[in-house]
Amino acid sequence: MNPNASQFAASFDPTNQEVALVGKLRPQSSAQIRDVLSLVVESFGRCDGVAYLNVKRLTQINVTAFEALRTCLVSVRTDLRIVIVTSSVISWSTRLFQTLAETAQNLAVEVYDSAFYPGQDFVEDESFIPILRTQTKMTWRHERDMLPRHGLETGAKIADVCCGIGDFAALVHKEFAPARIVALDHSKRSLEYARRVAKEFGLTEVEYVYGDASQMLLADDQFDFVTCRHSLQIFDRPEVLLRELYRICRPGGRVYITNEKNSHCLGEPHAESIAWTYGEVAKLFAHFDMDVEMGPKSRRLLTEAGFEDIKVESFMVTNMDGDPQDFADVIEAWENVYAGEMAVRRGDKPEFIRRFRQGFVDHRTAALHPKGYAGWPIWAASARKPH
Ligand SMILES: C[S@@+](CC[C@H](N)C(=O)[O-])C[C@H]1O[C@@H](n2cnc3c(N)ncnc32)[C@H](O)[C@@H]1O
Repeated sequence: MNPNASQFAASFDPTNQEVALVGKLRPQSSAQIRDVLSLVVESFGRCDGVAYLNVKRLTQINVTAFEALRTCLVSVRTDLRIVIVTSSVISWSTRLFQTLAETAQNLAVEVYDSAFYPGQDFVEDESFIPILRTQTKMTWRHERDMLPRHGLETGAKIADVCCGIGDFAALVHKEFAPARIVALDHSKRSLEYARRVAKEFGLTEVEYVYGDASQMLLADDQFDFVTCRHSLQIFDRPEVLLRELYRICRPGGRVYITNEKNSHCLGEPHAESIAWTYGEVAKLFAHFDMDVEMGPKSRRLLTEAGFEDIKVESFMVTNMDGDPQDFADVIEAWENVYAGEMAVRRGDKPEFIRRFRQGFVDHRTAALHPKGYAGWPIWAASARKPH
């Protein structure tokens, strides 16, 4: 079920014991939503133990509907625990449903996206911003030339999903003059940063949106080109994100993704130390259910998501692309978060962290050494949504 935000739909999923309400629920009288209330009563009548009322994508509800729903929920099954699942993307939702839950002991509210993927703490934190800022600077000189090969044309309608600090969207806007560009992310810190930078540069055309990429409020079939960079590898259910990228892309439009294979980062001199550390980076991310080895899996992921005309290419960001200090800055930002925060959170011993850090130090040395070479491989893939 994927109605546009302007529609309303109610459904029951017996496997998950979940009733979902999606869209705008604004009746004139409770009689107008009799079928919705019946669905709630009948569905919960078939549940045992815990049942869920999913309002993550309920974008509007008026007083009439809220009161009718409240009456229905407090009386439907007092022996059943009913969890109302909200999303922080709908700003009023949690507070409102909390007032409802307080009226009966068997009702509770859970904010779905307060801890909805294992890497969330790290990537939505302010300390991740230097990684994003330095990375895009390095990748853009490659991607600017690659994007037209993947179907990006001037004047397209574009969505950059999981946009981070929005620098890619700003660069795309400058280079490709899109008709519309929406940049969505779930990190409030990154979006604050994006909006501040956009304001400073007088950039008003990029629409920065707070949202959950696994359940976007954007309508179906509306973008010519949908990008999602370095993020399928961060979210623990990439196939769910791909389903959403597919949904918002118009038939005939293209979805463009980039992902890494961290264990293939390399450098000379100190090749062994560098290789060891990046092998450990991959394992560290896997510990938090993130797959930074995803790059070469792009073709399979896009095929299984139902796309056609798949194109995959890989490129190597290196210290020779421009100022080597730029690459050294990327490596330093990685070290700070991966060794300084993630390894510590995993509970790694100081000896491990020391060796882990050394690989980053050696990678930086390789990047800055007058005869050195340092590389970071990335896979870019795109595919067409069938007509
Ligand atoms: C590694 S960063 C990449 C950001 C940006 N695309 C770039 O390349 O600079 C991953 C981003 O995905 C975002 N993200 C992960 N899961 C998300 C979700 N379900 N909804 C929205 N954003 C999500 C994080 O907040 C983070 O900004």
